[in-house]
Amino acid sequence: MSAQTALWLDDGNFIIAPKDTPHPGSGEVLVKNLVAALDPLDWVIRDYGFYMVKEYPAVIGEEGAGVVEETGDGVTTLVKGDKVFYQSYLTNRCPTFQHFSVIPVELVGKVPDTISLDQAASISAGIAPPALGLYAQQPQGLDLLAPWEEGGKGKYNGQPIIVVGGASSLGQYGYLGATHIIDRKLPAASFQEQVAKITSAPVELAFAAICYPDTQQALYDVLAPEGKMIVTRRPEAVRKEGDQKMVHFVNGSFHLPGNKEFSSRFMRALTRMTADGEIKTPAVEVIPNGLNGVVLGMERLKSESVSGKTLVVHPWET
Ligand SMILES: NC(=O)c1ccc[n+]([C@@H]2O[C@H](COP(=O)([O-])OP(=O)(O)OC[C@H]3O[C@@H](n4cnc5c(N)ncnc54)[C@H](OP(=O)(O)O)[C@@H]3O)[C@@H](O)[C@H]2O)c1
Repeated sequence: MSAQTALWLDDGNFIIAPKDTPHPGSGEVLVKNLVAALDPLDWVIRDYGFYMVKEYPAVIGEEGAGVVEETGDGVTTLVKGDKVFYQSYLTNRCPTFQHFSVIPVELVGKVPDTISLDQAASISAGIAPPALGLYAQQPQGLDLLAPWEEGGKGKYNGQPIIVVGGASSLGQYGYLGATHIIDRKLPAASFQEQVAKITSAPVELAFAAICYPDTQQALYDVLAPEGKMIVTRRPEAVRKEGDQKMVHFVNGSFHLPGNKEFSSRFMRALTRMTADGEIKTPAVEVIPNGLNGVVLGMERLKSESVSGKTLVVHPWET
């Protein structure tokens, strides 16, 4: 196949330039990226680098949706033209700020006719950290029984869980079924009091989609003595000597070797739950001009001026 178009990152700058189109190997699919979703990690990689990006110039973009263009040997579950969603991996074959990506077939979900590709583009990467953090086996996750597994539905009913950053993409997936909302603009010092107004039960479990030092600390302080909290960035809460609380950092990549077994099982469940309407996707805003729109979107994410929605671009409108 001929050269494709990609958004390359080098030395902190992005340029649009051609790139070889990868070929799907055994068990992989080549996907035409019709939608690529933005993530705060994009500008973090640009400004500070990231350990998973090994080589520059690099193509990034952690999530997307599109159609299968070609299938590799042994792929029997998808055919050319199927609509799919996926989380990518930060090697140059896989990311979504380019026209085509190669993804292992077991980490690809099918898009049902009930949602658009724009809505589907952020599902994988948005749901991966809460799903892996809560339900993957230790040490990747807390090994809770997932609602899609036998006996899992309703198992934890009545037990409080706090999600910090319920309006974020990650938080909205952990947020389904929320019963109360605490305004994030209230002072962190009043957090304990706000929680106490809602429940007198011990808070054994929390998920911090938004992980600033002050939000982590407020959450840590409100946890029950043996409570567990999942953080999506480096743990920063100050622990009290001798206390038994667990702070668990989740690496929300389906592609990591330790996460892959859980992730391929989960992707099958996720495809089914998406088709059944159990997965509600966040609101979406399409930024015009294809891959040229990525930098503008990144600046908006960096300045925290995006509220309660996912930004996406259409790479083929570049
Ligand atoms: N560990 C991993 O594998 C992994 C994977 C992906 C992302 N992440 C990290 O997870 C974080 C969330 O990513 P995302 O894509 O979900 O972000 P996002 O959708 O861009 O988050 C924006 C939302 O965060 C809310 N917010 C901002 N500051 C807040 C605060 N102090 N308290 C509560 N809510 C606040 C905003 O609420 P308002 O609407 O009120 O303004 C806004 O709606 C990022 O830091 C990202 O780097 C980690």
